[in-house]
Parts: sequence; C-alpha cells; structure tokens
Amino acid sequence: MKKLWGGRFKENMDPQFRKFNASLPVDWRLLEADIQVNKAYAQALRKAGILTGHEEKSIQSALDNIREKNSKNPTHILKNIEQGIEDIHTYVETEVIKSAGEAGYKIHTGRSRNEQVSTDLRIYLRQEILSLQKSLKNLCFILIGLAEQNFDVIMPGYTHLQKAQPVLFPHYLMAYFEKFCRDIQRLDEVFTRTNVLPLGSGALTGSHTKIDRNFLCKLLGFAEISSNSMDAVSDRDFILDFTGAGSIILIHLSRLAEDLILYSSSEFGFIELRDNVATGSSLMPHKKNPDALELIRGKTGQAFGHHMGMLALMKGLPLTYNKDLQESQNHLFESADIASTCVSMMATILKNIILHKERIRQSAQSDYIDATEVVDYLIRKGLPFRKAHHIAGKVVLFGIEAGLPLHKIKLKDFHRFSPLFDKDVYDIFSLEKIISAKDIPGGTSPERVKEAIRQSKKKLE
Ligand code: ARG
Repeated sequence: MKKLWGGRFKENMDPQFRKFNASLPVDWRLLEADIQVNKAYAQALRKAGILTGHEEKSIQSALDNIREKNSKNPTHILKNIEQGIEDIHTYVETEVIKSAGEAGYKIHTGRSRNEQVSTDLRIYLRQEILSLQKSLKNLCFILIGLAEQNFDVIMPGYTHLQKAQPVLFPHYLMAYFEKFCRDIQRLDEVFTRTNVLPLGSGALTGSHTKIDRNFLCKLLGFAEISSNSMDAVSDRDFILDFTGAGSIILIHLSRLAEDLILYSSSEFGFIELRDNVATGSSLMPHKKNPDALELIRGKTGQAFGHHMGMLALMKGLPLTYNKDLQESQNHLFESADIASTCVSMMATILKNIILHKERIRQSAQSDYIDATEVVDYLIRKGLPFRKAHHIAGKVVLFGIEAGLPLHKIKLKDFHRFSPLFDKDVYDIFSLEKIISAKDIPGGTSPERVKEAIRQSKKKLE
C-alpha cells in the first residue's frame, strides 16, 4: 500500500504529476512534528476505545523507530517519492503500517491530513518563534552592551540623511533596541494565535470519532482547541502573521544594516568592520566590503517575497481546504530561516565593529549641527520661537557665506541679527551641554539614556 487513497482509482498516477503533487521535498521538515502528533493521536485513539493498549504500544514503538531511523539524515526520506509517497503524513503512516502491522491501519481513524498538516505546521512554527525570540533577545543584549561600553560617544543624528542634531551613540543604539523589543512582542502575539489545536476537525466537518480534543490539546502543549472545523482546516493566517512579523524584523535589520554600511564608508568613517566580518575585492586590493550587511539588506527582499507569496496564495480561496495551501509551507520555512540567520548574523557583526570615536565626535560638531541651539538660546532670551528660528537661520547663512562655524562668529556679527545675543552665546555650543539639555523622558540626555538602558535590561529579563 503506497497511496492512502488508492481504492477509488483504476489507473496509476502520471509520473510527472506524481512528482508535481508531492510535498515531501518541502515537508520532510515536519517529520518531528508529525511524529509528535501521531504519538498523541495514538493515545487519544486508545482513550476512545479504537486502539487496544497493545495496539497503541506497537504504534508508539513504530513511531520511535521512525524518529530514530531518520535522526541522522532526515532528507533520506526524499527517496520515498519514487515509491509514490506524496507527503510527510503519508510517509509516517506508511512506515507505521510497515512496522506495527494491523494496528497501523487504524492510526488515521477519524482523522484527515487537512487537520494534521495544520497541526504539524503550528508545532513547527511554535518552535521557530521561540528560537527567533531567543536570538532577538541576544541581539538586544548586544545592543545594550555596545551602548554601555561607548556611553559617552556623541554622534550626529540625521533626518533626510542630513545632519540634524547631536545625539548620544547609546541613544541611537537603543532606538534599535526598542524596535527589536517590539519584534519580540509581536512574535508573542503570533505565538498565541498559532498555539491553537486544529486536530479533531476531520477533513472539514469535525471528526466522527469521539476523540478527546482537550486531552490532545494538553498532550501537544496547545493553549486551546480551535472552535470551528471549517475554519481550522482552511486557514493559514498564523503563517501570514509570522511572515508579516518576519518582514518587520527584516525591515528593522535592513535599516540597521544600511546605517552601518553608510557609517563604514570612508565618506562617513564612523566605524570599521573587523576583518572577520568583511570581504575584499578580487580586483581592487584596497577594498574592504560590508557583504554581510548587504546580504541582510538583500535578503529582506526575499522575506517580503514570502509574505507577498502568502497573501497572494490565500486570496479568494474558497472554503475549505484546497491543495494551494500546500504551497504555504515553503513560505513558512524560508521566512523562518531568513529571519533567524539574519538576526544572528547581525549579532555577530555588532560584536565586530570598531568605532572611530574621534571622527564621530568631529562630525557631530560640524556643518551647523548646533544651529538649533541658537534658536533655544534666543527663546531663553525672550524671543518667540518662530522669530528665533528666522534669526538663527540668518546667522547660519552668514556663517556659511563667511566660511565660519557658529562658535567662531564674532559677537558684533551676531549683533547684526539680534541685540539679544550676549557673550554667553558661546557657552551653548558645547556638545555635552547640547546633549544634556534634552532632559525629557525618551530624550538623549545622559541621565535619560542611562535610565532607558536600566529599564531595558529589566524588560529583557
Ligand atoms: N500535503 C498536504 C498539504 O500540505 C496535506 C493535506 C492533503 N490533503 C488533501 N486532502 N489532499 O496541504
């Protein structure tokens, strides 16, 4: 017996179609999940009186053998396609029948692959979510470590990629911490919606066998059972949740990658990648290229592709199960792989960057990045904001035309624009003072950033 559904058919499957139809090349990755589901289901069948104790035992040991047999190289399973095994469920059932004999023919009682595949995918995804969250957490700790080690570094902050205002380097790093922290929380929500057991839904109407769904739910570690059999076998929205959350993680990674690519260019010169995370050019001997970061940026497109693929796959599908749904598996596996490799690659890169602190500081002091301080100064002297902004703009223009930074402009020249300028105007240009003035929750003053780091550590733990 190779096909689970052969009885109604007189002709053999066209070999091309057999290959086309088979999901084994993709779903072999569900082997462990499928074994767990079968082990739990065998217990439920015994509880329902379908299997005797002895029969259940022989099924359990058949399943143990399948696990054992494939522990070294699960891709060996693929050679079964030639023998007409179309998917991982067929493989497991066929093997159970081979080794448990008559009892094996009962394992699929009251069950459909439609509910089985959804259950397997949920078990698989739960594991992926937990391990992705763990590696995001590791990335967050690395960001905090970098922030603490370089607490007093002041860098230029940008808007429109134009120098805007000076900012503490740790404040910049903690911006990414916040993003990755939300990614972890988003995955919590995906986990909650994934952690629902479809088993017991049958093909679409609910199983005709009185298996105890709550018992299965407990055995397989799900939080609850699904409420509607037709919904349970027809949806893959939990995968969409994940490819969506995965896309957002990659957006965040790609932005950090892009920043670091820019900052490592000689035009910025803020950082250098250590040799172990950089590559050279086969032609230009001087090159040191940020390939690792570029690949993270590049793979982001693939992550979006899998999310888009899922959206397109699900659109307009009539209820309930359709074979289209088989195509969701590749999107899930690939997007989980991309997210996990990119998060851990980024962690390794962050451990291997060298900061050029002098260059960063010098950049944080040039190009009129302190112009906003002149506005604040005039406000303190009693001028309304919009007027202060206009006067500061005139001062900047004067500086540009005279080729002078603001702190080198003479007081008499300041007076061309407002009599409110005094000697104390020269005190406002200190980087440390500029930073300290942003003393508001969420701001970049050292006290606030220290507090943010403290809170963040607490949050992570
Ligand atoms: N390999 C199939 C999938 O991944 C399993 C479900 C098959 N069900 C069916 N009625 N053909 O979707």
